[in-house]
Amino acid sequence: MAESSDLHIVILAAGQGTRMKSARPKVLHEVMGTTMVEHVLGTAGSLGPTTVTVIVGHKADVVRAGLAHVPDLHFCLQEPQLGTAHALQQAEKVLAGKTGTVILLSGDVPLLRRETLQRLLASHRSSRAAATVVTSVVDQPYGYGRIVRRDGQLVAIVEERDASPVERQIHEINSGIYAFDLNPLFDALRGIAAQNAQGEYYLTDLVGIYARRNLVVETLVLDGFQEIRGINSRSDLAEVSRIVRQTKNEELMAAGVTLIDPATTYIASEVEIGADTVIHPGVVIEGHSRVGQACEIQAHVRIVDSDIADRVAINSFCLIVGARIAQGAAVGPFAHLRPETVIGQGAKVGNFVELKKTTLGPGSKANHLSYLGDTTVGANANIGAGTITCNYDGKHKHATVIEDGAFIGSDTQLVAPVRIGQGAVVGAGTTVREDVPAGALAVSAGKQRNIDGWVERKRGAAKP
Ligand code: UD1
Ligand code: CA
Repeated sequence: MAESSDLHIVILAAGQGTRMKSARPKVLHEVMGTTMVEHVLGTAGSLGPTTVTVIVGHKADVVRAGLAHVPDLHFCLQEPQLGTAHALQQAEKVLAGKTGTVILLSGDVPLLRRETLQRLLASHRSSRAAATVVTSVVDQPYGYGRIVRRDGQLVAIVEERDASPVERQIHEINSGIYAFDLNPLFDALRGIAAQNAQGEYYLTDLVGIYARRNLVVETLVLDGFQEIRGINSRSDLAEVSRIVRQTKNEELMAAGVTLIDPATTYIASEVEIGADTVIHPGVVIEGHSRVGQACEIQAHVRIVDSDIADRVAINSFCLIVGARIAQGAAVGPFAHLRPETVIGQGAKVGNFVELKKTTLGPGSKANHLSYLGDTTVGANANIGAGTITCNYDGKHKHATVIEDGAFIGSDTQLVAPVRIGQGAVVGAGTTVREDVPAGALAVSAGKQRNIDGWVERKRGAAKP
């Protein structure tokens, strides 16, 4: 039979992850904003596999739902979960009759790199082994399956619980990542028994079965341990997240971004940042965000799914979600930009200003204590302190339009739908219920009365 170059990926994600002590399936816990299993899927997918299968079991529906947006995935249900060999057996539904190589991955090993999988595939194919096990020699092998060799050849993998005191001294561990030739695999899996401390069907027993069938099992020994680290506990999760973060931060710094304190800077892997931008301590940038060149992001700002152009200044303590900010704009401190907010070139948003679905045109300013929702502000308008758009009537949202050069005095309510014409002025303290024509002045407060001597009379009356 001609050798098939097909590549099939199987990801084990059926286990409960008891040590996480979580209602959420382990593989759905996030590492820097992306679930563990999606990290693995991303890496595996980059190899261009023919099929990708995820084995689900514990809270299978929740895992499926968590991956519903990933195209072309096969799911196989493992119910009950009887061990790693039993888990892989479930993939037979997808892989029966197919040929080529299977790479088996765990959903809880998110740091694994594409280059390593490419190496595994290359070495597996060139050695023509029936299976290749990825191993590593580590300082602290506790908890991992140990690689037992005789005359240098792999003869067994022994789990921690089943290992003898001598075997526990072995520092070479099983990463749980393998390449298999598909041909003998499923038949050999049927030969595995659950005779061990946990009463589970161990995939690692395949080594002995292959030896008896004279099938060659090779190893690929990795230098580092870092990338094959499995996450079993919240502590592992924090450590792995730290590694991902550090890698991203190093990349950014190498590309010309200043991070004042990388240890407290949280930037998701997909985020792009231009050269000469300075990021201060405690900044969090998540999702699909982009920050241009020569920006300054001051301490304790959180940016999510936002696009920020060049030379933008974000002052401390801002929350910016789903916003677009043009060149040279300034935002904060203490500003809240909500989804679909657009800040024009050179515009300014000051402290305690909340914008939602609002466009602030070029050169416009909303510097203090305002709420603008569903609002379009033109160019060079001034929004005074305490301006509030009343965009919600209890049932529906309504739009406010403020045209170019308009001046909205302080403590104004704009009851939407309403339009303020070009260059119009709204006096301080006005409640605007009707459109204001271009160039007009709107005032609604009654005429001020001063009552002479009132204070003296009041005080006099109050005296005992
Ligand atoms: C496994 C290996 C061990 C290796 C380690 C590397 C076995 C018997 N042991 O141990 O040699 O050093 O990984 O991290 O294979 N899973 C299922 N269904 C099951 C059981 C597990 O899908 O019935 C999944 C888990 O969700 C997880 C993966 O398989 O993604 C590994 O299972 P886990 O229980 O964590 O195995 P380890 O004890 O870590
Ligand atoms: Ca594990």
